[in-house]
Amino acid sequence: MKKILISGALGQVGSEIALALRELYGNENVILVDIRDNVNVDLISKGPFYIADCRDREKLSTIIKNHQVDTIIHLAAILSAKAEQNPVRAWDININGLTTMLELAKEFNCSLFTPSSIGAFGSSTPKDNTPQVTIQRPSCIYGISKVSGELLCDYYYNKYNVDTRGVRFPGLISYLTPPGGGTTDYAIEIFYDAIKYKKYVCPLKEDTYLDMLYISDAVKAVIDLMNADPSKLKHRNAYNITAMSFSPKELAAEIKKHIPEFEIVYEVDPIKQRIADSWPNKLDDSEAREQWGFNPSYDLEKMVSLMLDNISRRLNND
Ligand code: NAD
Ligand code: SER
Repeated sequence: MKKILISGALGQVGSEIALALRELYGNENVILVDIRDNVNVDLISKGPFYIADCRDREKLSTIIKNHQVDTIIHLAAILSAKAEQNPVRAWDININGLTTMLELAKEFNCSLFTPSSIGAFGSSTPKDNTPQVTIQRPSCIYGISKVSGELLCDYYYNKYNVDTRGVRFPGLISYLTPPGGGTTDYAIEIFYDAIKYKKYVCPLKEDTYLDMLYISDAVKAVIDLMNADPSKLKHRNAYNITAMSFSPKELAAEIKKHIPEFEIVYEVDPIKQRIADSWPNKLDDSEAREQWGFNPSYDLEKMVSLMLDNISRRLNND
């Protein structure tokens, strides 16, 4: 990786990967694109930034050529809960956006990272210690687009030798940029409401277990996978990774250790609950650990303490 283009760069994940990569490779060598420019002004001003739709091949082709891009980190997508509100639009952006990026990677000989998700699994998938290779029959449009994306990336690798790599991200927890409409967003919103109101109304049932990962571990995973020895990679698209599996009840109990008066109540959102119920409780990520050294640092205790400290500081400065 020398010249890196990030699509969806101003989102929850993109903004953090952009910061880390600019630190490592230099501001000028990390080129950001998104369809909006009204967030993360700091990122936009410190290096190359373009408004571009991930389906706009012509515009992206010019950007890639002008900056001599060798690596694409394709993050632009519509997340699970938002996708259910407009499945046709979600399919268009998630699939045609990825196809455009794969075509560009083929044309300009770029490596391409794009994330899949725990959403690529469905109700018929084994829920506990979900294997790397298993049944993938998701029922939400987001998951259907993610399985298709995994297969498309494999196709471009096998047919055209495009260096495609990916992980199945679990719910990602961060505080720099708000999440974009996922089912796991509750595990971020809860911190803001715990600090501001000492109370959180949770859209998922108390015993809904989902895999999660703190953002620093997610960013490190992307960098490590892209720098991994290709001969060691048995599954390019996409590796199971996780650091913790918890339920809303367990997360609330951990927050209560810091804010004893905090209370959680449950008002279930049927769409989010249906999606969450179809996803695994806990992934088996041993293949990522063995093949490219995935080794997360943040567990539930460490993550909660860090989120509360950082969000408190942020809210006090606002
Ligand atoms: P996000 O919604 O926070 O950010 C997505 C970004 O893409 C936004 O800035 C949006 O403006 C941009 N975008 C949307 N449509 C676009 C288009 N047509 N062209 C260009 N840009 C467009 O999402 P995120 O959480 O940062 O997710 C990034 C990737 O990671 C996605 O592929 C998502 O499926 C995957 N992922 C995220 C999580 C998570 O918990 N956040 C978990 C699993 C997988
Ligand atoms: N966090 C994501 C979502 O809930 C998982 O891919 O949509």
